[in-house]
Amino acid sequence: MLNKIIISNSGFRRIFSCAACMLLLWEPMNIDAKPIVLQAPSDKDVQLEEKDLEAQKHLAIMVNKIQKDPEAKEKIVQFGQERTILCNVCHGEDGNAKRAGVPNLAGQNPVYLLDQIQRFSDGRRYDRTMRSLASSFTEDEKIMLALYYSKMEARPTKIQDPVQWAAGKEIYDVACAQCHGERGRGEKGYARLSSQKADYVIKMLKEFRSYTGRRANPWMAAVSNSLNDEEMAAVAAYVSTLK
Ligand code: HEC
Ligand code: HEC
Repeated sequence: MLNKIIISNSGFRRIFSCAACMLLLWEPMNIDAKPIVLQAPSDKDVQLEEKDLEAQKHLAIMVNKIQKDPEAKEKIVQFGQERTILCNVCHGEDGNAKRAGVPNLAGQNPVYLLDQIQRFSDGRRYDRTMRSLASSFTEDEKIMLALYYSKMEARPTKIQDPVQWAAGKEIYDVACAQCHGERGRGEKGYARLSSQKADYVIKMLKEFRSYTGRRANPWMAAVSNSLNDEEMAAVAAYVSTLK
């Protein structure tokens, strides 16, 4: 749980007491941020975190149950083909995004996908189109959508600038791998980043950094606060090439 918030000159930094997050206290690529205030979190922050962890566990159990049932699998494919016609316009028939600023859904971690669909529909994550679309599905349908896309194959991009790529890898290995996985595959409830569109990754990192309220996560806020635009572009370019 939250044990302290450090407010630095580059914005807020919220640091958790979990082992992974303690690593955030050690920030080799953060040059200018000097912590100036230390204070306890509000109760609200702590409750939110507990609620999210509970929801995550519940989703994982539901996803596991459906994955073991062959009949359910067939139903998922059929449902997906019928009900993602609208989604295809932006996310692509094969789950690889066709428009700028839109994420690939192919191969994404189903626990994460389901969690995000629920967040769109209850307003914890905001995007106008996604809000109305996500809330048109029942709870069972949301699970089927998540599993449908998770079985598709994401297409990585080719390395364009080897120098930028190497800089991105360095940042990734130090600051991202402990949660998103060594190759960005997104284990447990974490988002898969490998093969994700670079422009979308940059858009989200800026979203987390700037607290626009469309999407908030204290871990990602802490991480993105330590990156400048150039570092964001490098890490985004790197993950987009991972398979
Ligand atoms: C008009 C374009 C459009 C359509 C149609 C659309 N989406 Fe999206 N979707 C987006 C955009 C843009 C985002 C990123 C939103 C943001 O900036 O936070 C997104 C995000 C998502 C995410 C979050 C993925 C992640 O990596 O966090 C999921 C899941 C998703 N969409 C599922 C769907 C499904 C299922 C449908 C069809 C029912 C659908 N979308 C239809 C544009 C669209
Ligand atoms: C302490 C754990 C942790 C670390 C370290 C971390 N992340 Fe995350 N990341 C998360 C969580 C949790 C989410 C989901 C947030 C939500 O639900 O809105 C996330 C979400 C994201 C997303 C949105 C994915 C999507 O499909 O929309 C991106 C992009 C991202 N992280 C990139 C990074 C990058 C790049 C780094 C390293 C510079 C990093 N993360 C380090 C925990 C972490």
